[in-house]
Amino acid sequence: MAIIIVPGPDPTSRAFASSLAKTAGLSLCDVSYKRFPDGEQYIRLGCETKGSDVIVVKTFVPEQDSSAVIAMLLADAAKEAGANSLTLIAPYIAYARQDRAFLSGEPVSIRALLRALWASGYERLVTIEIHKPESLRHFPGSSINVRPYPLMADLLSLRGRSDVVVVSPDLGALERAKILASHLGVEFDYLEKFRDRVTGEVSMKPKSMDVKDKHVIIVDDIISTGSTIVNAVNELRKQGARDFTVLVAHALLAEGAEERLRSIGLGTVYAANTTPVKGSFVTQIDVAPAVAESLKSLGLSP
Ligand code: R5P
Repeated sequence: MAIIIVPGPDPTSRAFASSLAKTAGLSLCDVSYKRFPDGEQYIRLGCETKGSDVIVVKTFVPEQDSSAVIAMLLADAAKEAGANSLTLIAPYIAYARQDRAFLSGEPVSIRALLRALWASGYERLVTIEIHKPESLRHFPGSSINVRPYPLMADLLSLRGRSDVVVVSPDLGALERAKILASHLGVEFDYLEKFRDRVTGEVSMKPKSMDVKDKHVIIVDDIISTGSTIVNAVNELRKQGARDFTVLVAHALLAEGAEERLRSIGLGTVYAANTTPVKGSFVTQIDVAPAVAESLKSLGLSP
């Protein structure tokens, strides 16, 4: 059965789809995108999808809301034209940090989004390092959360170094540090936050590991304002860490983040190619090969 990759309109989705098509040996569909004068979106598939397994590649940034609508329109168009099955690859899935109602009256946003995507026809969902993997339980079809860090570390030649340790900036990201550290065969830890009861000052330190004179890989899912990484680097320096590699899945870099990160002496941060980036501060690493591997486990390879 034919497998066709349908790319979203934005440059990040297009580039990811091309790399995936090349790695997995799949063909790409040509799609027309435009907006009606009133702002509504129009899409038209330029390929035959009848009887095919269709894989839509759409990252959900920068325009999170219209990304969701585009993903739904692509699903509907492919089904309308007789696609056999539908898979969504969302390199970055939006709304994942609102994974519970923190205050009364709030939605569980990721649940609303995942249910809507499923209802639009997607049977499978593949994403890269969703904020909390357990959120995928809200998607009624099958889903895979791809962990990009081992591939990224290999491409950065971080394997086989005896001076390396891996640290996550908080307990919530510990699993990320564990996965990467076990791949590299090195120690890992997380930063624990302390509050001085007298001064109220907050400090962080590795829970148990000695980072003195070590090259520390700080691993996290997202950089947004950069504050988490800035605090982590500052605290690890106080503990004697020698230097750093910052490895994240998604470089969202809100206003001021680059300046904040440069101000503590970071020359670059490494991120997967899931989001658009400006300038040269973020070094992007193509993780489409890791997604291609996950397609095999879904039975979606030629
Ligand atoms: C928090 O739970 C996340 O894993 C990230 O650490 C956080 O979203 C990063 O945000 P920022 O760059 O604004 O500190």
